[in-house]
Parts: sequence; structure tokens; C-alpha cells
Amino acid sequence: MSDSIQAIRGMNDMLPDESPVWERFEAIVQDWLRRYGYRQIRMPILERTELFVRSIGEVTDIVEKEMYTFTDRLNGDSLTLRPEGTASCVRAALQHNLLYNGPQRLWYAGPMFRHERPQKGRYRQFHQVGVEALGLGGADADAELIVMGARLWRDLGLDRISLEINTLGSSEARLRYRARLVQYLERHIDALDEDARRRMHTNPLRVLDSKNPQMQALIGAAPRLLDDLDEESLQHFENVQRLVRLSGVNFTINPRLVRGLDYYNRTVFEWVTDALGAQGTVCAGGRYDGLIEQIGGKPAPAAGFAMGVERLIALMAGGAMPQPWLDVYVVWSGSQAEAHAWRVAERLRDGGLNVSMHHGGGSFKSQMKRADGSGARFAVIVGDDEAQAEEATLKPLREQREQARVRVTDLMALIKG
Ligand code: HAM
Repeated sequence: MSDSIQAIRGMNDMLPDESPVWERFEAIVQDWLRRYGYRQIRMPILERTELFVRSIGEVTDIVEKEMYTFTDRLNGDSLTLRPEGTASCVRAALQHNLLYNGPQRLWYAGPMFRHERPQKGRYRQFHQVGVEALGLGGADADAELIVMGARLWRDLGLDRISLEINTLGSSEARLRYRARLVQYLERHIDALDEDARRRMHTNPLRVLDSKNPQMQALIGAAPRLLDDLDEESLQHFENVQRLVRLSGVNFTINPRLVRGLDYYNRTVFEWVTDALGAQGTVCAGGRYDGLIEQIGGKPAPAAGFAMGVERLIALMAGGAMPQPWLDVYVVWSGSQAEAHAWRVAERLRDGGLNVSMHHGGGSFKSQMKRADGSGARFAVIVGDDEAQAEEATLKPLREQREQARVRVTDLMALIKG
């Protein structure tokens, strides 16, 4: 026997039992996005590697070691499966001149690819819903993005998600801070782990993001970016906080929040939960005023965020009862019954019901077993007698009600009632 072929590690199938919660998530998210005036954009999954190197940053985990990159065998181009959506979204907006018409509120959804070590909540193919406000530079735009998140958690019925915010200031302020931080790290070089020593001169802010318990005291005592902030960024941050508070959304300021992508400036934020173990960040984002120019556009401000769909689905599935999705399973037997059963099934579908027709024949008893296993709320049973009389037998499968033989014309009302 040959070995069976399995999916690639860290890349998941979404099975039919999971689809109701995914569909519910997607419906709620689309409704929520419309209410804030966002329009959908779809970008290719494959882009030139250069796009991600230029935007996410050369010295980041994603670009250094997590991208699925390969060479196009015909022309030698370096291509990469997108590890995130912001870079592609900005690329598409610029390529099609969308900003010519003023600010754009855009959203996208789909799979992203990162070659990380898989564990619960961390996959190599995962899904994001991303939201990008292009051409909007004010604190009000940041605050709206944050307040939007709070509403979505309510719409999805999720609590236990809390908000952390920080500001990274202007790029000049960050350079000043960077110099101070490197000096501090150099003074404590003996206490740094290997990763931190490597990062110290290439991307020192990321040292603050280390999860190594032995490094926490050192990180806790490190100089704070807040102390190097420029006046304008401070004012901006104050305004974001004021507007978020005004909307009744709680948050904590986390001065260590630096994010793993290089394009951010000023406001950054993460929504985190303690209900999922180590991979608790369900949504993250911030302002990225330099990115549009970096990708070749006229300078314009922007901000956005993306959420991890698998993580939110895990939160939703934890509390939800599985909903019956099938209304009717049609069971039939007899020479005249077949055509009648087909007509009844189509008629119920005309009325908007979800109907599964029994295929493959068999005794009434074996068909009823299938009906039970289908999860349907009702079985509709048709024999030759029923066919002749334009009737059907309605049997509730999930509640203690008697079955009843009724006219086909009354069937719909009884099921819906
Ligand atoms: P990110 O923090 O890299 O930001 O990813 C956003 C979210 O995607 C994370 O908070 C997490 O929920 C989910 N996520 C990331 N990696 C994985 C993984 N390996 N498995 C499962 N879920 C994952 C971005 O991607 C930015 N583009 C967000 C943004 C949009 N900033 C501005 N606009």
C-alpha cells in the first residue's frame, strides 16, 4: 500500500463541521465593515519578494526566516507567498491610482503564509481580515480603527479581549531612542541572549519583544521610548487616547509594544486574550505613514490592522452551541414516491429551507437512521400512499412532537411555525 498524502504541516483543512462558525464569522464581519464605510479589495496571493522586503523590513523575523519565497522558473523573478496583506493592499491602491479620489477605506480577507513553528493558534497558512485606512493622518482615524475592533468583539459575542496601545513616535524620535537603547544593551551585553545580541545592532527595538524569562528584568529597566517622543507624536497619542476613552473603550498603555513589522510609526495597538494560551494576540495594527512613499507613491499617511481569523474562530467555537443547519431530510420509498419526493424537496427549497434528499434507496428504517445522523430538524417521509394523496409525513427529529401526515401545501407552514 502506498503512503497516503497528508497536508503540509501547519496548513489546515477547514472541515464541514467547522464551516458554520466560519460562515457566521464572515457574515458578521462583512456587516460590521459596511457599517464603517469600508469596501473590499482582493489582491493576488503571490507578489514580488521585493514588495515585502521593502515594506516589512529586511531585519524582521518575517523577511529573515518566515517567507515562502521561490524563483519563477521562466524568468528568474523572486516571488513570495504573501505573509501579510498591508503591503499588497498599498501596492494595489497605488497601481490603480485609488488615492487620486481621496482617502480610501479598504478591507481584504484571505490566507497568509509564514514559515513559523506551528503550534496551537500559530499556523503556516492562516487567515486574516485586514482593514486599511489609506490617506487618513489624524488621531481620529486611529481612534476609529480601535473603536471598530471593540464593536466587532461585541458583535461576535466575545469578551476577554483587551486592548494594549503604544506610540512609536516619529522616525527621528525612534532613531534618538534607538541610540539610547543600543547604549543600554551594550552596557548589559553579558545578560543578553543570543537572539538579543544578534538583534542589538540591526533591530534593537525588537529586543524589547523578547519572551525569554531571563531577559525580562533587563527589558523592564530599559530606557523608554515614551521619554524620547517628539511633541507632535505625543499630542497625537493624547488625542487617540481621548477619543478612544470618549467611546467607552478601555485600554492599557504598554510601552514595550513594538510590533514585528518595520513600517509602523506613532500609534500601534494589539487586542489580546488570555483564553487561547501563548498565541493570544487576535488583532493588531497601527499607523504606517511612511509606507506609501516607500512603495513608490506620493507621500500619504495611513493606518490599519489585521485580525487572525483562526484565533477568533477558536474563541467563538469555545462558547457556541453547534447550530442545526439542515431543516429537512427527505426519506422515500415506493415506485410513485420518488417523483413526489423530488417535487416536495424542490418545493421546500423554493420556500427557503435547507433540504437534503436521501440518495441510494434502502429500507425506511435505514433511511431514518441517515435522517437522524444528518442533524436535520425534520424528516419528511414519502411513500406511495402519500404520493397518491399529495401528502407527506412530517416527523420532528429534535423535539418530542408526534409525527403527522399532512397535505404538501401545509408542510412549509408547519416546518417554519
Ligand atoms: P501581524 O501582527 O503580523 O500584523 O498579524 C496580525 C494578526 O494575524 C496577528 O495578531 C494574529 O492574530 C494573526 N497571525 C499572525 N501570524 C499568525 C500565524 N502564524 N498563525 C495564526 N495567526 C497569525 C500584520 O500582519 C499587519 N499587516 C497588520 C496591519 C494591517 N497593520 C496595519 N494594517
